[in-house]
Parts: sequence; structure tokens; C-alpha cells
Amino acid sequence: MVTIDQIQLPDFPLLLAPMEDVSDPPFRAVCKVNGADLMYTEFISSEGLIRDAIKSRRKLDIFEAERPVGIQIFGGDEEAMALSAKIVDTVNPDLLDINFGCPVKKVVSKGAGAGVLKDVDLMVRLTKAVVNSTKLPVTVKTRLGWDDNTINIDEVAERLQDVGIKALAIHGRTRCQMYKGVANWEPIARVKNNPRIHIPIFGNGDIDSPQKAVEYKNRYGVDGVMIGRAAIGYPWIFREIKHYIATGQMLAPPTVQERVDVIRRHLYTSVEWKGPVVGINEMRRHYANYLKGLPNIKEFRAKLVTLPDIASIDPVLDEIVTYYGGLELPRPEEYFYAGTCRG
Ligand SMILES: Cc1cc2nc3c(=O)[nH]c(=O)nc-3n(C[C@H](O)[C@H](O)[C@H](O)COP(=O)(O)O)c2cc1C
Repeated sequence: MVTIDQIQLPDFPLLLAPMEDVSDPPFRAVCKVNGADLMYTEFISSEGLIRDAIKSRRKLDIFEAERPVGIQIFGGDEEAMALSAKIVDTVNPDLLDINFGCPVKKVVSKGAGAGVLKDVDLMVRLTKAVVNSTKLPVTVKTRLGWDDNTINIDEVAERLQDVGIKALAIHGRTRCQMYKGVANWEPIARVKNNPRIHIPIFGNGDIDSPQKAVEYKNRYGVDGVMIGRAAIGYPWIFREIKHYIATGQMLAPPTVQERVDVIRRHLYTSVEWKGPVVGINEMRRHYANYLKGLPNIKEFRAKLVTLPDIASIDPVLDEIVTYYGGLELPRPEEYFYAGTCRG
């Protein structure tokens, strides 16, 4: 068992990574039923939260069925971070996560996200401000350092633990790497093996198959892994990894019926949470991911992305199941997509 303060997680927990524009409640719902052990919201601007911006407030929505769930905030100002931690308290998530990993210019230039990797003292002050103003367990997600010449995760881990964080998730890239190259897990293993470190250390970066999860578990000794891009359009990755760890066997890939079941759950939750117009619209970008690899899917997809409501979409989903019947699709090997790399 792995524990984050009072939160009890199974051995080698699988975490769904926080992802802006992706890990909203409907997406989290499909990851939860497929085995994610701990999930995070999209990152929320501390400045936005205290300004009462609708977009930021909305990201605070969490549901009982998805617990344990963490709310992630970012910002470069101690007071704003402390105040927003108090706001997060009021919605009672299981934990509060600080984002010190976001590499985008807009965030970094304000000294937030991965920007603080250049100023560890500020990072420590921001963390302290949050820890002191919330009763929730505080965790951090960050990168290895600013660039290859300034990898400082060893110091960062010790100092953040000293000011009271309860777990650390490390993405094995530097800020300057953005998403290029292969994630480097050696520094993550070094942190995990540091005898001074007693909080759980979660590894993050490039996990896209059960084999890789197990290989990295054994090679780097982390307490669990956090999965981002490979879960997009493929939430079954969580159950596949669990099955592989338990049995050493690969689980069969999802059937067409299972794909459609996940689409339905995502769609229904989306409409419930966002309302009938936005819910239907925002769901449109997900169909292609869930139906990837099905031959001749174009026509069905075209219908799904134009139909206006659940009543008209539901019969098309039924048609897809009937049309493809028991067709078995191999597991997709390539999930990663370019262009939207933010954390
Ligand atoms: C679309 C997208 C949005 C992201 N948004 C966030 C975010 O809000 N907060 C965060 O800490 N990381 C964010 N990230 C980074 C991921 O949490 C994760 O660290 C990264 O994708 C590497 O893990 P992976 O190789 O499993 O995808 C985002 C990544 C993507 C692809």
C-alpha cells in the first residue's frame, strides 16, 4: 500500500496526470472505471481563482465517485497561491497539488509552473505558503530542472519535503525539453533512492504500455506511475497495466462494444456536467480517439460530430456496434501526438 498522508492507495498506484483541456470530470469518469487510482483536475490559475473567473471556478468541480481526487493549482505569487489554497479547501478534494512543471511561455514568464525551477527559493516559499494555508495534504508535480545543465530535482525534492509536501510526481524532462526526446527516469530513481526522502515518489513521462510500466517499476523503483497522453482516447491503459502486473499476461484490447460504452459514459457525463450544447460540442473532439483504428469509420464519425443531441447520437453508436460486431482491433501502439504539450 502507498499512502499520501491519510489517503490509502493500492501498491504501485496508477495516477491519471493533470491535463489542461483533457482531464475534466467526464474524462476522469472513464479513467476511474478503467482503474485509475488517483486523478487530478486540469491545472487552475491561482490568479483566476481569486478573481472568481468562471473558467477557473468550474475546474473545481469534483464528484464523490472519483475520489481520491486532487485539485491542481499554479501561480507565481505567494499570496495568490495561499488564498487560492483556501478556496480549494472549500470544495474538499482529497489533496491539493501544485504545478511546478508547466513549460508554456505564458505561465513560465509569470514565474509560475516550470518557471520556478530557476528559483528554488521561490518554489519553496510558494509551497510553504500553500501548506500553511490549507488543511489538505499538499503534493507537487514538477520536472527535472530548467535545462540539461541545471537539473536540480534532487535539491527540490528534499527542500519541498522539508516544508511539508506529502508526495512528489516527477516528469522526467526539463522545462527546455518541453516534450522532445525521451523522458529521463534516472534522476527520478535517484530521488526515490535518496535515504532522506520518505514521501511517495511517482514517475511520469512516456508510459504507454503495460510492459513499459512494469519495466520502469522494476528499473526505477518508483512508488507508482502517472500517465497522461497514453490515456487520451485509451483509458483502458489503466486496467491493462493492472492486469499485466497481476498476471504477467496482456489483457485483450477493448472490444467495439467496450469502446462504445466508454463513448456513451463520456458523452452522458459531458452533457450532464456541461449542459446539452457545450457537452455535445466538446465531446466531438473525442470520438476519433476512441474509434481510432476501426476501418471505414469515417462516415460514422462524420455523423457523430454533426448530430445535435444524445437522442440522435445514441442510434449511431448502436449502429457502430452492429456494423463492427466482434471485430478485434490490436492495441494501438502510437498514442503520442504532437502540438499540445503543456505540462
Ligand atoms: C494536453 C496536455 C495538457 C497538460 N496539462 C497539464 C496540466 O494542466 N498540469 C500539469 O501538471 N501537467 C499537464 N500536462 C503534462 C502531463 O501531466 C504529463 O506530465 C505529461 O503529458 C507527460 O506524461 P505522459 O508522457 O504520460 O503524457 C499536460 C499534458 C498534455 C499532453
